[in-house]
Amino acid sequence: MNLPADPSVEAGPSSAGPASAAGRSDGRVTTASNTKWLLETKGITKRFGAVEALSDVNLHVAPGEVTALLGDNGAGKSTLIKCLAGIHEPEEGQMIFDGHPVRIRGPKVATGLGIETVYQDLALCDNLDIVQNMFLGRELTNSRLLDEDSMEKQARQTLAELSVTTVRSIRQLVGSLSGGQRQAVAVAKAVMQNARMVIMDEPTAALGVAQTAMVLDLIRTLRSRGIAVLVISHNLNDVFKVADHIAVLYLGRLAVEAPVGAFDQQSAVYAITTGRFDPNTIEASATVQAIE
Ligand SMILES: Nc1ncnc2c1ncn2[C@@H]1O[C@H](COP(=O)(O)OP(=O)(O)OP(=O)(O)O)[C@@H](O)[C@H]1O
Ligand SMILES: [Mg+2]
Repeated sequence: MNLPADPSVEAGPSSAGPASAAGRSDGRVTTASNTKWLLETKGITKRFGAVEALSDVNLHVAPGEVTALLGDNGAGKSTLIKCLAGIHEPEEGQMIFDGHPVRIRGPKVATGLGIETVYQDLALCDNLDIVQNMFLGRELTNSRLLDEDSMEKQARQTLAELSVTTVRSIRQLVGSLSGGQRQAVAVAKAVMQNARMVIMDEPTAALGVAQTAMVLDLIRTLRSRGIAVLVISHNLNDVFKVADHIAVLYLGRLAVEAPVGAFDQQSAVYAITTGRFDPNTIEASATVQAIE
């Protein structure tokens, strides 16, 4: 696939744009795993009054890969994913989804494209059971009655496909689940809607060791199903366990975007805290192949 020329993804950091291992001098976008991007943002700028929360952000997310979105508090991570989820509309810039320019004017447009977002507060209802949560607002009906059997079957199947085995009953109230199990239900809810891209805002922030491992497994399962996963995390150990790509936001700007192999913990922390990156490290580590 030929993507349009985009000088902003050329390699090497500059004051005008992010360092990127995913660019070539002819401007064609390239990736480490020979896949085309599922989502590209071009020059996304989002302001809240006088605050420019995002400035000229060019992000690339590939299908079947985990992209970690890193950055310090207030860097703009949540704002960026809210733009992708249709909660905020950027003042400037363009989004390309599956090769087509899109305007994501509301959450329904995002879900219609297959972009599902799992927020940190998860937006699950504690007083409803797992099935009711998974079908909330999109209940299945049969002759205008709720089709409980079909919903149960689909819910059970989706959880099984995601290898979620620790839930005792799918009729259990969500309020009685552990943090990791709640995360799994929220992800299952997203995946059930034929998600092509799942965005997760700090999915392991409040979890213990075993539950974190379960959520990381869930992320790997999504990836193996060809879904693009965009995950925000402050935990670099988690990031290095699952990420294929890392994008770092610094004060609203995309400071660097590169395959995970271009980073170690130290350079990731350096990029997060200074917004800078050594381009030689990227060139030495990145495997860059052209998209056909
Ligand atoms: N609704 C809003 N109204 C006004 N300013 C906002 C709003 N949402 C975010 N901001 C501002 O935009 C900037 C980016 O915030 P954002 O929540 O995206 O950061 P973040 O990277 O997610 O940080 P954290 O790691 O703390 O979650 C901050 O300066 C924040 O104060
Ligand atoms: Mg945030």
